[in-house]
Amino acid sequence: MHSVSGYVAQHKERFLEELFQGLRIPSVSSNSKGAAAMYQAADFFKGQLILAGADSATVMETEGWPVVFGQKQVGDDRPTVLVYGHYDVQPPEPLDEWKSPPFEPEVREHKIFARGADDDKGQLFMHLKALEYMVAEKCLPCNIKFLIEGEEEMGSPSLKAFCKQHQELLLADLILVSDTALYSLKQPTLTTGLRGLAYFELHVWGPQRDLHSGLYGGAVANPVNELAHILSQLKDREGRIRIPGFYECIQEPDLDELQQLRQLPFDEAAFAKGIGVPALAGEPGYSVVEQLGIRPSLDVNGIWGGYTGEGAKTILPARAMAKLSLRLVPGQEPVQVEELLRSYLHQIAAPGVAWELKALHGGNAYVVPWQGKGVQAAVRAMEQVLGVSPLPYHSGGSIPVIADFEEVLGQKAVLLGFGLESDAIHAPNENFPLENFYKGIETVAWFYHYYTLKQ
Ligand code: BES
Ligand code: MN
Ligand code: MN
Repeated sequence: MHSVSGYVAQHKERFLEELFQGLRIPSVSSNSKGAAAMYQAADFFKGQLILAGADSATVMETEGWPVVFGQKQVGDDRPTVLVYGHYDVQPPEPLDEWKSPPFEPEVREHKIFARGADDDKGQLFMHLKALEYMVAEKCLPCNIKFLIEGEEEMGSPSLKAFCKQHQELLLADLILVSDTALYSLKQPTLTTGLRGLAYFELHVWGPQRDLHSGLYGGAVANPVNELAHILSQLKDREGRIRIPGFYECIQEPDLDELQQLRQLPFDEAAFAKGIGVPALAGEPGYSVVEQLGIRPSLDVNGIWGGYTGEGAKTILPARAMAKLSLRLVPGQEPVQVEELLRSYLHQIAAPGVAWELKALHGGNAYVVPWQGKGVQAAVRAMEQVLGVSPLPYHSGGSIPVIADFEEVLGQKAVLLGFGLESDAIHAPNENFPLENFYKGIETVAWFYHYYTLKQ
């Protein structure tokens, strides 16, 4: 096992070249015309699984974009780990803000720059290369299955049904995922919580056509004004969500968990500086780590309506629309949140407009106990490779399918993420530091060692 760092050092250039091949494929799942790239990416990861030494790998159809499944069996008496990742990426726009084109990966300042470099092709690749090492050096101590989907960035609409349909194929003792971040390699964290998500579109309609704002303004409700009014009622000035009943079902984390989270020396000033905001804003009485990890949030993701072209156009627009996302914590469910929001909208929307709330996707929050066998194996692997014990961390992000796995496959997932907050995932100039990539490969290999070690 001690030879994994040597193996990585010996093959690091080739690892990078292979990852680059995957990063060149523009597998943007939300692009309905992107089928060619999606199948190309699925095929590419299938090929990489075989190259790494899997016994078999196949591209399987779903209701949506295909899934790649592969496995390496070493013995029926050995435990089985299911590795999950996603080959789809977020759209790269705005393109003119990229210093190098999003699908032409390059290394600058010891970082890989490309869409998907971190989220999730780069992190998924750590697992492929750890597999390659363990097969090549004949030290793979358990069975491995890979489930690589192409719809994570759109809320995994087909994966739950796929899992139900292929329960036996996906049977495992543990799920292992690298699709999160750590605080830093010097002060690593291991994610033990993810927030859930409820995503909506809110449409507001007024008159049947755009009106002259002089001839009608003052007598007719304006959908853009009304939408703005509604949105301003969703949170108070201090950041508390005003939807009645919204906080009622929350299951507070236990004290142990809270104390552990508070150990992280999170630098709030550096956090604000890193994203270029003059001050942070959030629910009073909670630290940033708590605001992100154990408290829900509500954000408008986009808003449009009316005239946005050059010059002035005096209209009273016919409609307006907003996209809204709520991050949820344990105890809250997307359908229940939808009901609460809907009742509140009935209460606050003006009678002069019609509105419709559409739920796009959602998922439950997730927590995994620190004392579990899989988490502890990950802790030891990080200690081994990084020389420091990781602290637990609750991430504000969501991977909705992780809670589905628990429900459908009956297993917890260990979130062995190697991204950094500064990796700019979903944004221009997404990147993944080479060191995180290479250390990640080593840590994954050590994970299997500790996970299968006889106590
Ligand atoms: N990998 C991210 C989630 C993530 C990133 C969790 C960093 C923790 C740390 C994932 O690909 C993602 O972007 N999830 C979406 C949800 C999805 C339904 C679009 C999210 O969190 O917005
Ligand atoms: Mn991801
Ligand atoms: Mn993502």
